[in-house]
Amino acid sequence: MSNRAQRLIDCCRTLAAFTEEPGRTTRTFLSPPMVDVHRHLGSLMSSIGMHVTVDAVGNLRGVRMGEGPRLIIGSHLDTVPNAGAFDGVLGVVIGIALAETASRHSIEVIGFSEEEGVRLGVPFIGSRALVGTLDAATLALAEPYIRQFGLNPENIAEAHFAPETAAYLEFHIEQGPVLESLHLPLGVVDAIAGQSRLEVTFEGQANHAGTTPMPLRRDALVAAAQWIVRVEQLALAHDLLVATTGRVQIEPNATNVVPGRVTVSLDVRHRCDENRQAAVRQLIAAASKIASRRGVKMHHQQPLDQPAVPMNVGLREHLATAVKSAGYPVHYMSSGAGHDAMIVAPHIPSAMLFLRSPGGISHSPDEDVLGEDVEAAITVGERFLCLTS
Ligand code: HGY
Ligand code: MN
Ligand code: MN
Repeated sequence: MSNRAQRLIDCCRTLAAFTEEPGRTTRTFLSPPMVDVHRHLGSLMSSIGMHVTVDAVGNLRGVRMGEGPRLIIGSHLDTVPNAGAFDGVLGVVIGIALAETASRHSIEVIGFSEEEGVRLGVPFIGSRALVGTLDAATLALAEPYIRQFGLNPENIAEAHFAPETAAYLEFHIEQGPVLESLHLPLGVVDAIAGQSRLEVTFEGQANHAGTTPMPLRRDALVAAAQWIVRVEQLALAHDLLVATTGRVQIEPNATNVVPGRVTVSLDVRHRCDENRQAAVRQLIAAASKIASRRGVKMHHQQPLDQPAVPMNVGLREHLATAVKSAGYPVHYMSSGAGHDAMIVAPHIPSAMLFLRSPGGISHSPDEDVLGEDVEAAITVGERFLCLTS
């Protein structure tokens, strides 16, 4: 493994220790450990001559003026709970490494403050501020956290990308099994799947576990459980559809009380928006049917309906040419995971390069990356810069 790749991997592992939860990596929107991440990466950016700022929503931004239009290289610095060391962070660290070697280019490296949507239930706050699509309601939701971090939400307009910005490039681990199964180090992303995020609530009747006969119960958790199984059945029946009920909140969550209210998260993805939205409609109808059969009420809200987004064809082909010229096979693939690139792409021509995920694991401490693939990605990035300057 090259020293450069080892240094980047070590940096990601160092940053993984900046966490809200000792012993595991959890770093949500503008939480205290984000200060340490900004300090660590900010000093790396300054050491290579970048002008470092933190914008109104907590994006860490390093700019180094050079020749030609500006290229933004970015990814996110927040994580899911009990995360791995590379999701998001690796793309920022590779960006800094490229800015270091490609000294004559005009480069901005951005570490987005919020992509996962863990803390507020709304993802992509950082990249939406960059492209000017952060709505007032979400900004208001984020405001207390922004002010607590010492930032001023009134400066949100300054977070917008500079007019001389010509392209956006994101390096990211694949987070799935495809590249490893094909024994390939890198993947050129052609499109990012759309995603729907919902909260489905079943309202029954909390009651005494000892005195309430089974036929008289309106148990919200059993209704939710029946629906969760239905979610899996429907996703299994539709090719390329994935649906996940990752979080269940039970009230009052006591062993001797029939659950009165249960809220289940629903995450639905598909590369085709019509299929994804049809699946969401079917799943809400199924929830309503199960609820009425059980004398339970059901209501839902949908904080996210994110369309699928294609990458810019010209940039994608530049990236493919850079992969080829660096001596690696070109493999085009779509992304089942969401990324900041899907928010940026409708406003700035964007491209994404995936690095192989050993074991196909992500959103887990077992997430990993291979040194030779990190070196390959940087080499491709250097070729890409030469091609696009
Ligand atoms: O959920 C996702 O697809 C990404 O990891 N935020
Ligand atoms: Mn993630
Ligand atoms: Mn990510």
